Amino acid sequence: MKKPTILRWAGSKARLIPDLSRLAPKKYSRYVEPFAGSACLYFALEPQIAILGDINAQVIDVYRAIRSDPNSVADALEEIPKTADAYYKLRAQDPSSLNLSQRAARLIFLMKACFNGVYRTNLRGEFNVPMGDRVYALPTRKHLIETHQLIQNAHLVSGDFRETLALSRPGDWVYMDPPYRKIDRYRGEYGYAGRFGESEMSLLIDTARELASRGISVTMSYAYDEAFVRSLSGWSVHLVSATRSVASKAEFRLKVPEVILTSYLS
Ligand SMILES: C[S@@+](CC[C@H](N)C(=O)[O-])C[C@H]1O[C@@H](n2cnc3c(N)ncnc32)[C@H](O)[C@@H]1O
Repeated sequence: MKKPTILRWAGSKARLIPDLSRLAPKKYSRYVEPFAGSACLYFALEPQIAILGDINAQVIDVYRAIRSDPNSVADALEEIPKTADAYYKLRAQDPSSLNLSQRAARLIFLMKACFNGVYRTNLRGEFNVPMGDRVYALPTRKHLIETHQLIQNAHLVSGDFRETLALSRPGDWVYMDPPYRKIDRYRGEYGYAGRFGESEMSLLIDTARELASRGISVTMSYAYDEAFVRSLSGWSVHLVSATRSVASKAEFRLKVPEVILTSYLS
């Protein structure tokens, strides 16, 4: 990847980019990513036309803000002191009281500074992650302007994966990176709205099969799980290894097998 993504995001598949790029379909018309988060693959591949969705409206607002006015996001970021005091003040702010650029700058800063890059909220939907031990490099004005140019041709969906996938059509490439159901059930990772249980996973698998049957190329990355691999029988299976970065303690960030499944021969 050329530079860190705009959002620092636990669960980002940055380490899988070489494998995912290698396994991409040779040809596709549009790139569709219904669980975008930091959208590391999108930013690595820079596809011409894309649809990016996430259930977390704040994430999508970051991309909307940059698409609309990258300079004002850069201005808002520059105004934030890189201190713990500023972190906790911003964290306590109600994002709905801010304009779009300020909201985007707030989330970009909180994610670059929070513990382990985890987005977690309380039941009221308020971000409640403590500050980590440093503030990772914030995107520069130049990076925001380049992103602004790239994202002009991206359709942004703030909503459930079904809404994004309903827009896909034959010839598209859909890359799905859903939350891990086992981890998310216990951690409240991705916020309350982003919980992902057995029923969502089973619906996602049915939808993935249905998309593939309509001539849409589908790629899915997930923690290795036999039942999951069996549920997509007939798809190509690629075992890869990634360090999971969602564990709360560094010593638990072990190499765990991940799997990439493709509905097409790759
Ligand atoms: C594993 S992360 C994706 C990481 C992404 N590949 C990246 O590069 O950062 C999963 C994402 O799915 C989102 N999410 C959770 N439940 C969802 C749902 N039902 N529909 C759409 N997005 C959802 C979360 O907000 C989170 O951003």
